[in-house]
Amino acid sequence: MKKLAKQTAVFSGLALAGVMFSNVAMADLFIYNGQHKNSGVEKAAKLFTEKTGVKVELKTGKSAELAGLLKEEGMKSPADIFIAESTGPFLSLSEGDLLAKAGDEAVKNVSSVNVPQAPKEDFVVIGLRSRVLAYNPEKIAEKDLPKSWTEMANDPKWKNRFSYHPGSGALVDQIANYKKLHGEEKTKAFLKALKENGQSINGHTAALKKVDAGELDVAIMNQYYLDRLYKEKGKENVKARIHYMRNGDADSTLSFSGAAVLKASKNVKEAQQFLAFLTSKEGQEAYVSTSGEWPANSKAVSPVTYLEPLSTLNPPKTTFNSYADSEDAKKLIKEAGIQ
Ligand SMILES: [Fe+2]
Repeated sequence: MKKLAKQTAVFSGLALAGVMFSNVAMADLFIYNGQHKNSGVEKAAKLFTEKTGVKVELKTGKSAELAGLLKEEGMKSPADIFIAESTGPFLSLSEGDLLAKAGDEAVKNVSSVNVPQAPKEDFVVIGLRSRVLAYNPEKIAEKDLPKSWTEMANDPKWKNRFSYHPGSGALVDQIANYKKLHGEEKTKAFLKALKENGQSINGHTAALKKVDAGELDVAIMNQYYLDRLYKEKGKENVKARIHYMRNGDADSTLSFSGAAVLKASKNVKEAQQFLAFLTSKEGQEAYVSTSGEWPANSKAVSPVTYLEPLSTLNPPKTTFNSYADSEDAKKLIKEAGIQ
């Protein structure tokens, strides 16, 4: 496995996100990035390099697969940092004792009542995303949308009028929360109804485009896809809208993107400095301007106009632990014939 060449750069008295660099030898950082391509990690990393001279290299893939690779590699991993779009991978790496401390600066940057904190401070939330329903107001009024997805999946009125993305990591988070709230039998019944009465569409963007074109009434997805479509087509050309469920059920599940430093890293200090930057106001604004997520640092401002305050979303009253059951949730999704 390739290990990045050490780069030596001397910093004297440069203050970055409250972290002082003083005459320390810096090394390149290698990030395993489980976010979408062009999710904003690239943008934040580029800014970090411009400010510090520290070269950052990204290996981009699926969060769960990269977490699996990190487990296989163990202390031999060439990665310094792991970034993912959901919480389960961090919890399992944390349990495997593969994560170092995220660093006080990063932890402080994202301490807010709306942002969960890793119990061992070995990863930090960098962005929040919500499950939502995409709809087309020319076809259906917001007030006529279903009040719950369990109801929607079981009501003959909605048969074949809604879609879900079978391979979605957020669906896994949603189902993990569903099971926590309602137990295994009801979760199985919900998944069965979803499969029988909904349309399986691979990819949230594909589903959103169908909604936008008036070919599909509603689609279960994550809020940031609308922002991606705005960027692709121009906001004025997009008819689709999103609806926050706000029902305290798994329909309103929030997922948390995060970042962690690996114990295997030879550059723990520099990696913590990267996390401090990524969670700083400046780093967060660079990141969310592309990711379309809510920033985890409450001082950062998102340019996405339809993001409503996190405090109004009424997500289920579950904790990080509910997300730890992602393997179990995946199994239930598979058993229902969805994946
Ligand atoms: Fe996504």
